[in-house]
Amino acid sequence: MEKIKDALSKARGSQIGQKINQPKKAVKFIQLDDELKSIVYSETAVVKLDAGHLEKNRIVAQNKHDPSSWIFDSLRTQVLQTMEENKWRTLAIISPTPAAGKTVVAINLAISIAQQPQKTAMLVDFDLRKPRIAQYLGLKQPKSINDLLSGNADLAEVMVNPGIPRLTVVPTNSPVKQSSETLSSNSIQHLVVELKERYDSRVVIFDLPPILSADDAMVLLPQVDCVLLVIGDGQHTEAEITDTMRLLTKSNILGVVVNKSEAKAQPYYYD
Ligand SMILES: Nc1ncnc2c1ncn2[C@@H]1O[C@H](COP(=O)(O)OP(=O)(O)OP(=O)(O)O)[C@@H](O)[C@H]1O
Ligand SMILES: [Mg+2]
Repeated sequence: MEKIKDALSKARGSQIGQKINQPKKAVKFIQLDDELKSIVYSETAVVKLDAGHLEKNRIVAQNKHDPSSWIFDSLRTQVLQTMEENKWRTLAIISPTPAAGKTVVAINLAISIAQQPQKTAMLVDFDLRKPRIAQYLGLKQPKSINDLLSGNADLAEVMVNPGIPRLTVVPTNSPVKQSSETLSSNSIQHLVVELKERYDSRVVIFDLPPILSADDAMVLLPQVDCVLLVIGDGQHTEAEITDTMRLLTKSNILGVVVNKSEAKAQPYYYD
């Protein structure tokens, strides 16, 4: 446990991370070593996104003119390397408590992965308590996971391509009652398998509720290959980090993103 705390504090002071183009806003990534681990379908709807709306919601990875976008490319490279080495295909984004920046990181990471020509990314809103992916992206699709769950749509109808090649989004439009029971249902288990199996080159990212606020994440984690932990810098107590790591002992922790960090990051300058 000491090592995890060390890793987290080291990340705050290290030069691993990069500065996002907003004052005091940064994202850093630490890869945890082994010891610390206790295509767009032809029928998919294509929707063009509004650049201003994305920027307002901190979705920057698609905009190569935004200096912040490279930080997510760097995160992507580290995430993909570890996932490929381990033949992992599904990734859950979690945090100890709310508002660490999971959804913002999940969306930016998915966009950045999709920009790799040999990869396709699928972003699934499994935060059935507080779904925000559609809102942050500005998607107003009539069909979503809500319709899939009620039997009023099939998967092809709820998938949407937000105008970015090789990125597919599966949104949830409104909160689902009994969300953890829903996530443990056969239909969700089949959905996870289907999303994962369709294409070899696909990385599937699941956005989830905070792990200490509900058991939703715990219900889904056995079905995913690995976990990316998002920590809001200064937002969580030591006990919350300890409890989170204890809940993750059976999971493959890909790494920790320290979000909203005030530490200055090292830009890639060569003099
Ligand atoms: N690096 C950052 N710097 C500043 N603000 C950020 C950063 N990342 C995210 N935010 C803001 O923090 C708020 C919470 O972000 P987000 O919704 O992604 O968190 P979350 O962990 O998904 O929350 P929840 O637990 O409610 O699902 C949003 O207003 C978002 O714009
Ligand atoms: Mg969220």
